[in-house]
This record gives sequence, C-alpha cells and structure tokens, in this order.
Amino acid sequence: MLLQTTPNTLIDLSRKTDGSQDRAEFARHVAEGLSQSPKILSSRYFYDAKGSRLFQQIMALPEYYLTRAEYSLLQRHRSAMVSAFAANGFFHLVDLGAGDAMKTKLLLSELVEQEKPFDYVPMDISGSVMQELSKDLQQSQPDLHVQAVVAEYILGLEWLEQHLTERKVVLFLGSNIGNFEREEGLEFISQIRRHLQPGDLFLLGVDLAKDPATILAAYNDASGVTAAFNLNLLERINRELGGNFDLEAFKHFALYDPQQGVMKSFLVSQREQEVYLEATQERYTFAAWEAIHTESSHKYTLPQATEMGRSAGFEFVTSYLDEKGNFADMLFKAV
Ligand code: AVJ
Repeated sequence: MLLQTTPNTLIDLSRKTDGSQDRAEFARHVAEGLSQSPKILSSRYFYDAKGSRLFQQIMALPEYYLTRAEYSLLQRHRSAMVSAFAANGFFHLVDLGAGDAMKTKLLLSELVEQEKPFDYVPMDISGSVMQELSKDLQQSQPDLHVQAVVAEYILGLEWLEQHLTERKVVLFLGSNIGNFEREEGLEFISQIRRHLQPGDLFLLGVDLAKDPATILAAYNDASGVTAAFNLNLLERINRELGGNFDLEAFKHFALYDPQQGVMKSFLVSQREQEVYLEATQERYTFAAWEAIHTESSHKYTLPQATEMGRSAGFEFVTSYLDEKGNFADMLFKAV
C-alpha cells in the first residue's frame, strides 16, 4: 500500500458568486428553449437537490438496468481493468462526474488491494458531493491520496492538463455521454482527447442498443419516479425563476427510436395554456398537446462506440461488458 504522504485536497474551480449568475444563465436558457419551436429544456437542469434525490431512486428502480449493469461489469472485470490501468507505473485516476463514486469504489479497492501506485482525482460540479466523497474516502481508504476538483467538465479538463504531471486514466462512466446528441458527444470526447497525452487511457461507459421495450421501460417506469424526475424540471423553474407552471397540466412522455438509438423524454402540455416567468417577465404559450423536449439518452452499438472513440483520436483497446450484454465500458488509448 502507498504511504499517505500528502493529505487529501479539494480544489474549487466553480464560480464563487451568490448564485445570481447561475440563476441568470438558467433563466436565459429556459427563455430561449421555451420561445423556440419545437420547445426544448436542457437535461443538465434536472439535478437540483430534489432532482438528485429522484435520480438516486431511479437507479434503484427494477426497470432501470443501467446502473446495475455497469456495477456488475465492474465487478466482473475490475481485476483486468486495474492491470490495464497500472501497466506503466504511477497514474492519476481522473473521474469525470464522480458523484458518490459508488461504482468507482470497486476500482479503487481493487487498485489498493493490488498495491498499484496511483492517486484519485474525482471531478464534479457539486461542491458538497466532492466534500463528502473526500471525507468518506479519508475514512474508508486512508492510504489513498485524493485530490477532489469542483468544476464543470471543460474547466476541470483544462485544470488537469496544467496540474497533473503523470500519466492519466480518465473515467467517464454511467452513460453520461448519452445525454449529448451524437455529434456533440463526439466533440466532447475529442475535447477530452485534446487534454490528454499519447499513452493516456480513457474509459467510456455506454448503454448498448438492445430490445427497445427494455430501454423504453427504463425511462417510463411503472411507479412514476421518472415522470416525477422529469416534472421536477418545471417545479425547479417555478421555485428558482418564479414560474407558474401548473404541474398537473403537463405529462411525462417517453419514446425510443431504434433507428437513431435514442431515448427521448418530453413534457406534454395537456391543454392550451400560458406560463409566466418572473425572472424574464415574459409569457410563454403552449398549444394543446405541444411538447417540450427535456432529455435525449443515446444508446450505442459496440461498433458505433468504437468508431466514436477512434474519430476522437483514440485507439480502441478493449470493451468490458456485463454478462447480459446490456452495458459496456470501452477502454481507449490516446495516440
Ligand atoms: C444520468 C444521463 C445516465 O440518461 O439514463 C435517467 C439520466 N434520465 N432516467 C440516463 C436519466 C431519466 C441518465 N443519465
């Protein structure tokens, strides 16, 4: 085991404001999206305190296979993964959007057990979540050096390029890539590549194309948790932007397009109505059955995911799958 020579650190690159800048940007995005035809709101705004709680519940739903599939593939392949990561000596394990690191902990304990030399650099937009994780790991893995970074993806990538001197292994797990439209996903992975050096590794979690009925059920669960998660976006607009959305007048609707490999979620206005936002002092009108597109969750075939990595400037190393073939963690190497 590594001796603890440096205490855990937490670096905060988030904008230190009273939140008014964030609120103004949120208002601008909402105003833009609701003035447009067809209407759209960004899924990045799902995750306020209530939304994050609902997402935790989603991950425990019987229909939501994604989290369990990735957890089980990590259990199944962690020994091989750790050997691949540590093949060339010391490395920084960078975890983009680490959250509570529930899945990454499987890799951490394996790395520590195998006495591999590395440090852990979790990155997340939430300061409280990073504080908690850092404290939690201090307890559970006292010999592990943790440098937590609070930042948006792009700022975090710039920081790691400037401050981390050794080889990097970057994790982007949980099918978070799915929320990017196809081209934007490729652009994001290309951006990751531009902040890495040849020889660095990248592990990408993708939800695989499968029976459309299985996918649809995961985003349209019987108990209505996903519907509540989607509707919370309007609740959040009411709370934070002084909106007057009538939540009863909108319904969650989800569909899967098996040709594009995309799950799409909507909030549909069940009648003609007007909504007012104090933050913008404007009214937004809805025709009966007009929909707001609130989320895309893209699914990939193995060849598509491999091609995306290659187009971004990586070499494909290998893919790790769960036993049912639902989910893949794809390992790439920067060339
Ligand atoms: C966190 C983006 C992976 O798209 O599956 C879950 C979010 N939305 N249920 C996904 C989500 C509805 C989730 N990701």
